[in-house]
Amino acid sequence: MFMFLFSLFVITFIAISVNACPAETLQGPDGKCYGFFPYGFFHNKSDYVCKEFYGGHLASIHSEKLNEFLMVNARDLFFETDNFWIGGKVYEDEGRYSWTDKSPFDYKNLEKDDEFHSDGNYGLALNKNTGKWHGIKSETVLPYVCTVYYKKRIPK
Ligand SMILES: *[C@@H]1O[C@H](CO)[C@@H](O)[C@H](O)[C@H]1NC(C)=O
Repeated sequence: MFMFLFSLFVITFIAISVNACPAETLQGPDGKCYGFFPYGFFHNKSDYVCKEFYGGHLASIHSEKLNEFLMVNARDLFFETDNFWIGGKVYEDEGRYSWTDKSPFDYKNLEKDDEFHSDGNYGLALNKNTGKWHGIKSETVLPYVCTVYYKKRIPK
């Protein structure tokens, strides 16, 4: 009897931990857990925080559905600015888009395709009103969205 209850407990525990997202994160249409952080950093530090504290990266977007999900939730959670960081960026010397999590750049929703010029590093920011992506100088402080796999400690 004890073993039966114990197994039931273990199975329930596993089932819950497989489905649940960490506290204060939301499950996206792709099944990943997303954290919305209103107190932001430069693009590079935002991605660093996503990695170091949450085991993820700035969000990479591969479907209109996910873009919509991030846009709609950002309207409820971000108030100071319209734009927030996602993981897209372009390097001065590369002149092409990439995601910080190294996934393929297979979907895009840029406001203009030619946003990037050779005058520095740009990060991609999603506009919560239009859903469009804009290239913004990486050294800009914006709120950000991470994929979250765990929560380690609160970053300073
Ligand atoms: C981010 O870039 C700035 C310069 O733009 C640099 O001073 C800083 O060390 C970088 N931070 C990280 C975490 O890479």
